[in-house]
Amino acid sequence: MSSTGTRTGVTVRVPAKVNVRLAVGGARPDGYHDLANVFLAVSLYDEVTAVRSPGGVRVSCSGPDAPQVPLDSTNLAARAAEALAARHGIAPDVHLHIAKDIPVAGGMAGGSADGAAALLACDTLWGLSTPRDELLALCAELGSDVPFSLLGGAALGTGRGEHLTPLPVGGDFHWVFAVADGGLSTPAVYAEFDRLTAGTAVPPPVATPALLEALRTGDPTALAATLANDLQPAALSLRPSLAATLTTGTTAGALAALVSGSGPTTAFLVKDPEAAQSVATALLQSGTCRTARVATSPAEGAVVVGAPPRQ
Ligand code: C5P
Repeated sequence: MSSTGTRTGVTVRVPAKVNVRLAVGGARPDGYHDLANVFLAVSLYDEVTAVRSPGGVRVSCSGPDAPQVPLDSTNLAARAAEALAARHGIAPDVHLHIAKDIPVAGGMAGGSADGAAALLACDTLWGLSTPRDELLALCAELGSDVPFSLLGGAALGTGRGEHLTPLPVGGDFHWVFAVADGGLSTPAVYAEFDRLTAGTAVPPPVATPALLEALRTGDPTALAATLANDLQPAALSLRPSLAATLTTGTTAGALAALVSGSGPTTAFLVKDPEAAQSVATALLQSGTCRTARVATSPAEGAVVVGAPPRQ
């Protein structure tokens, strides 16, 4: 198989993420917030397949949550293909198919994952060999979480979350994710954060050394003690029912529970795969979530996994 533009199709696999520390600073003049955002990629994956197709970008999607995925130019995968083609002065003639397994409800960067995957798939399909730092810069233009989807593993994101420093992880962590019914708008959650912190001095965001050490040593109990999300009060304020989901998971034996990113997905750190199964069962039986998914971390970032047969 050639990597010089003769491929007819390329498939990229890309992971979801959880934020093990989301420290949020005050609102900046541009409306964004400075972050100390510790991302951890988890083993729930979308696959994006790019196939040459005349007439511009077309997006399709399969999977249980497919009806909730926009197929127009608001889809980050479509925007990624267009941005890459514009960068190289070529026509964005591609059909992108998203095989969606990352929950669409929000907080796991599923849309960002598809943007990063589409960028890598198109770069490979079109034989562009765009340097990695340029791909990461294009990712950052698409959204604050997109560069991490390309990178995977674990990383500290600063600025609005797009400046990444990879972090060492010393072992596997086990997770359960409770997927809520309906989404939460990320801008609305940040606006609620601003409302809740109005009139207070919001400290500069930092990732604590204890958290970085827990990741480095792979110690789930130590990590559980340091998990924190500054957006959680805002997400709970907009969606009070998430409190019952969090309590259900901790009562069932999770080491710690938190809202993932801007929610409404909630994340439960557990000590081993057996605990993951029992927490997932308790969450499903409680009726406090739409579904529960088990995953491990860290997971590899966006990677080319194959090419469909020539047409
Ligand atoms: O960068 P992205 O498009 O994913 O951000 C979506 C929205 O989330 C932004 O428009 C902004 O309202 C909010 N946001 C923020 N500060 C960040 C990242 C996102 O306020 N660091």
